[in-house]
Amino acid sequence: MGNPQHHFILYSSAPFLLLLLTAPVSTSANERCHPDDKKVLLGIQKYYKNAYIFSSWSASTDCCTDWYMVGCDETTNRIKYLTVQKDGLSGVIAPAVGDLPYLTSLDFHKLPNITGPIPASIAKLSRLESLTLDYNSLTGPIPEYLHTLKKLNYINLSFNKLSGSTPASLPLTPSLDYLRLDHNMLTGSIPDTIGSIKNGEIYGLYLSYNQLTGTIPNALGKLNITVLYLSKNKLTGDASFLFGKNKPANQMDLSRNQLSFDFSKVEIPSEINWLLLDHNQIYGSLPASLTKLTNMNNFNVSYNRLCGKIPNGGRLGEFNKYSFIHNKCLCGSPLDACK
Ligand SMILES: *[C@@H]1O[C@H](CO)[C@@H](O)[C@H](O)[C@H]1NC(C)=O
Ligand SMILES: *[C@@H]1O[C@H](CO)[C@@H](O)[C@H](O)[C@H]1NC(C)=O
Ligand SMILES: *[C@@H]1O[C@H](CO)[C@@H](O)[C@H](O)[C@H]1NC(C)=O
Ligand SMILES: *[C@@H]1O[C@H](CO)[C@@H](O)[C@H](O)[C@H]1NC(C)=O
Repeated sequence: MGNPQHHFILYSSAPFLLLLLTAPVSTSANERCHPDDKKVLLGIQKYYKNAYIFSSWSASTDCCTDWYMVGCDETTNRIKYLTVQKDGLSGVIAPAVGDLPYLTSLDFHKLPNITGPIPASIAKLSRLESLTLDYNSLTGPIPEYLHTLKKLNYINLSFNKLSGSTPASLPLTPSLDYLRLDHNMLTGSIPDTIGSIKNGEIYGLYLSYNQLTGTIPNALGKLNITVLYLSKNKLTGDASFLFGKNKPANQMDLSRNQLSFDFSKVEIPSEINWLLLDHNQIYGSLPASLTKLTNMNNFNVSYNRLCGKIPNGGRLGEFNKYSFIHNKCLCGSPLDACK
């Protein structure tokens, strides 16, 4: 799922062995690592009390060729990636990450003992394209400054303990194409500024498993969103404007909210393959167009207030009764026959 270019991790230990066999110890003359970057990284290592995961970081070797978890740009030789993914770190995110000015990708992933707020120093990383700080124990708010990072297109802060409301400035991040804030403790409503996302288009928007309240802003319906997850919040009111035959939606999960709208007249996006609407207060009947969706492989409208006969045919027939149960008066296969 998501943008494959961001799964990029640069490990380069093999050249190190080769170097031992063929060349004298790397001198500062042939070392690629920029001294400023080396100083900052060694400072980070010290900040974490020389934790085991940094054991490849040695002052006498080249950070561009011999160090794990970092990668240098091929032409500038400046540190471009910092990817801290192995366990065994505790404390806060080292503020010094903000002193690696050429960083395009910063990743702290699955470090349950990494706590505290997202550091203010990240605001200095003007070249940052990808920020992944997921599956940690970060607290405090989503920082206000993210929209000032002009190249930032990928933000993944999911599975933390972030709180407060979604900054209204966040959707104004000029290059934003993927935003995951799911599985946190965010409150307040989805900001109206969501409609101002660049070119009216965002690939993935994940806000599920928070404590968001209020209605879904109409502006969200004007965006082209491929993957939209809003499940397990406390959102109320209409969501019918999110649908439309020509919308590029692939996956839509609005389940476990308090949404209430007439489903009868909704036009289902034709490419949809994942539509979860269970545990809401949706009424009306199931639109017949549901049977024409050839890609549908996950569908759930259980625990709503729907009525009428379940349309028959297409991929819809592949779902068992648990996709339809606990409605007001839905009937027909796979539920009981209509009276
Ligand atoms: C973003 O975060 C989620 C949850 O931690 C993770 O499963 C997903 O792989 C991440 N997305 C990408 C594209 O790295
Ligand atoms: C996290 O910290 C706790 C308490 O200090 C410790 O027992 C545990 O081993 C740490 N977990 C990891 C994965 O580092
Ligand atoms: C959304 O996608 C549709 C269909 O591809 C396109 O016609 C429309 O211009 C797009 N709208 C925006 C705001 O990008
Ligand atoms: C739909 O939701 C119900 C209730 O939570 C659950 O029992 C069922 O397994 C779900 N079905 C699908 C296909 O997700």
